[in-house]
Amino acid sequence: MHLLEALNWRYAVKQFSNHTLEETRLHTLLEATRLSPSAYGLQPYKLLLVEDQALRAELVTHSYDQQKVLHSSHLLVFAACRDIGSEFIREHMTRLHAARQLDEAAHQGMQQHYQLVLVDQPNTEQRQQWIRDQTFLALGNLLTSAALLQIDTCPMTGIIPEQYDRLLELEPHGLTTLATVTLGFRHPHDDYASQPKVRLGMEELVMRVPA
Ligand SMILES: Cc1cc2nc3c(=O)[nH]c(=O)nc-3n(C[C@H](O)[C@H](O)[C@H](O)COP(=O)(O)O)c2cc1C
Repeated sequence: MHLLEALNWRYAVKQFSNHTLEETRLHTLLEATRLSPSAYGLQPYKLLLVEDQALRAELVTHSYDQQKVLHSSHLLVFAACRDIGSEFIREHMTRLHAARQLDEAAHQGMQQHYQLVLVDQPNTEQRQQWIRDQTFLALGNLLTSAALLQIDTCPMTGIIPEQYDRLLELEPHGLTTLATVTLGFRHPHDDYASQPKVRLGMEELVMRVPA
């Protein structure tokens, strides 16, 4: 499927069928998401693949009763880091060094820069917003990748993050729920599949400068 065809094919699925997404296609989708870019490549988030059906059933009640949390093939939770500190930067530097063998000066320079612009930056609110931005970027990439792989999805922020955090025991891991994505295959009776897209026109969205 070509890109625009895939993006017109995809929609936020309301009702999933009971077909299970094969492990190989799921793996490709997760790999595409893993390759998502993030500022400085820091990836301040985790993806939780919730495989416990009883837990998924419980999460429905904390998702405004959206049944797809249980009745889709897979449930992914995008969890953002609650904050990032020096240890997080050090771990990133270790990965960077292992992949690119930085010399000592470059290593020190980058580590100091990340420390200065992120960790030592006193506005926690701003840093948390930055973390959330990175997480949503990965979510967006997952949606596009899924469309190209012909995997149906529904991104969801209609959830109660605090309750997800509690049930998934995220706080001790320094994580907090941002959004979920249900994955699988659309139910043949899901009427939303045939609804026309509602989007800004190209001329409304794209502003040429100068006009
Ligand atoms: C961040 C985000 C959160 C969303 N939350 C929900 C949700 O909780 N439940 C739902 O059914 N759809 C949800 N949607 C789907 C949007 O309503 C849908 O993407 C939008 O109306 C455009 O329609 P389309 O994706 O079907 O083309 C969400 C979409 C995004 C991007």
